[in-house]
Formats: sequence, structure tokens, C-alpha cells
Amino acid sequence: MAQPTNRVFSGVQPTGNLHLGNYLGAIRKFVAMQESHECIYCVVDLHAITADLVQDNLKQQTREIAAAFIASGIDPKAHIMFNQSQVREHAELAWLFNCVARMGWLQRMTQFKEKAGKNAQNASVGLFTYPNLMAADILLYRATHVPVGDDQKQHLELTRDIAAKFNHEFAKRIKETGHGGDGYFPITEPIIEGPATRVMSLRDGSKKMSKSEPSDMSRINLTDDADEIAKKIRKAKTDPDPLPDNLDDLKGRPEAENLVGIYAALNEVTPDAVISEFAGQQFGAFKPALADLAVEKLAPINAEMRKLMDDKAHIDSILDDGAARAREIAQQTMKEVRSIFGFLG
Ligand code: TRP
Repeated sequence: MAQPTNRVFSGVQPTGNLHLGNYLGAIRKFVAMQESHECIYCVVDLHAITADLVQDNLKQQTREIAAAFIASGIDPKAHIMFNQSQVREHAELAWLFNCVARMGWLQRMTQFKEKAGKNAQNASVGLFTYPNLMAADILLYRATHVPVGDDQKQHLELTRDIAAKFNHEFAKRIKETGHGGDGYFPITEPIIEGPATRVMSLRDGSKKMSKSEPSDMSRINLTDDADEIAKKIRKAKTDPDPLPDNLDDLKGRPEAENLVGIYAALNEVTPDAVISEFAGQQFGAFKPALADLAVEKLAPINAEMRKLMDDKAHIDSILDDGAARAREIAQQTMKEVRSIFGFLG
């Protein structure tokens, strides 16, 4: 099969609430890329069991990500949206990549070290080989571009290393089987979010907004309704000074910088433009403006998500249809990969 030249793949884990950081940093980018690329978006449920084996409501969480995707503007008909575990080829290719990737490569992964913490001996093997499954997700579709957060950059580098090693080790077979010229797998480009979309906690401007933060007041969830959104912004931590008239003077004021950044990102303008509009104003004036903007942008997504979540059968049928179309590509790749490895059958 000819190599795709502009295919996007990305994934989101169905663990916990999606929040404003996921929306501005990832999902909104996924939506925009539909204009120029053939996109495949995946709810990565096989990844969700690497840290905590037993997940409550995995089905519900999976549907919620799918609903958030659709409500935010992902078009599951024009593109592909599915959940990973429905396409068995992800697990199969991940096994083969367990044999391509080297121990040393995985031992360098900082996310494993962070997630495993002090008790690495007790982490699941799946948490350790997580990046191989991620490489399989991407390369199963021979995706050329992957929009991800900054924290996934190292995993993308590993994906590139796996593709390059596979292409190199099997160069002769790839030629013999006629499955590619300069290599079978593409060297995938990460598309990393810009600094403006790094959304920090509403309670502590030095920490990223996160679903694992105990205080729900620290984040705006995509499931929050208008009142909750407004309340969280009203109560967001700030400092007593008014907004300055230039960005430099925001340095050292992480909470203020974060709120300006959120305003800019939601309104799709630069932080500079926000500063010139609100220079000299107190948070007593800025916060209500931000709350109005956030409600204006997020409430419709929230309403659409609720509507979608009320009809589980409908979401499930969209995911089934996506899986069927993903499977077609995945099966073709695996047929070719099996023949390159030289398996019988
Ligand atoms: N590891 C990613 C994250 O936690 C999720 C993910 C899994 C992913 N497979 C992927 C992202 C493939 C991009 C491409 O955010």
C-alpha cells in the first residue's frame, strides 16, 4: 500500500475528567487538523489499565472522551474516531515492537520514572512498555503527524527510533516484499502545542491543570456547567495587583499569567492583545470577563456532551463504525508487517 503523506493520529486516555487543559492543549488542535489532514483519533483504553489495573466505569469514561471529541467538533464520519481495544491489531503490533525496542530506550523514559515513583519494582510491565503500545498506535496507521502535549515528546522520539530500527533491520525484506521504498514506517513528526496553550492549575499557577489534582476547584472540567465554570474562575487564586500593561511584568505572577493565557487561548488572540485590552484593571473586573468568555466557549460543548451521553447506543455505534474503518487500515498494515517479519500464514 502506498504510504500516506498527511495522516494524523492521536490518542486520549479514558481516565478521569477531561479539563480545559486537554481542550485547549489537545482537542482543539485535533479539531483544527481536520481541515488539512486525514485524521484518526483514538480513545486509548488499553493504555488506561497500565497504571491502575481495575478501572471503574471504563465504558462510561470511553464514551465520555468520544462525546467530548464530537462535541468539540471532531467529525467521526469525515475522519476516524474509535476506541483502541476494539482493534486487536494494536496489541499485536505492540508485541512486535516489544522485540524491536531496546531495554535502554525504555529505561530512559521520564514518564515511566515519574509514574512508577519510588516503587518501580511494583509497577506493571505494561506501564514500562506503554511507549511501545503508543508507537504501535501511531505506526499501525503509518501516521505522519501526531499532535501531542509537551510531556509526550519523548514517547514520540521513541516511536521514531522504533520506526527507524524496523526500517533498517528489515531493509532487505521490505524491498523483497515490495512494501516500501525507503522504509516501511514513516518517521513521524510530533506537533507540539505552543506555550499559550499550557494551562495551569487555578489554585497554583506553577502546576499544570491536571485530572489527578485532588481539588476540583483547580480545574475546569468539560463536564462543568455554566455555574460551575463561573464559580471556579471567580475563586481562582490571584494576587492583589492590577494587570500590567506589558507581558514582561506578568513574569513572577504565575496565576495572573495563567488567567491571561486562558483568556487569550479561548478568544484565539495573543496574550499581548489581552494585556492591552485589560491593562490597569483589577481581577475584580478581569475575572467576570474571563468567566463570561469561558462560559460562552465551553457551555455549548458541555451541553452537546450531555446530549450525546444520554444516548449511549448512538455513541457506541459511532465508535463501532470508527473501529471497523480503523481495522481495515490496521489489518492491511499487519498483513504487510507479518510478511516482512517472515511469519508463516
Ligand atoms: N500517551 C498519550 C497521553 O497520555 C496518549 C496516547 C496513547 C497517544 N497513544 C497515543 C497520543 C498515540 C498520541 C498518539 O497523552
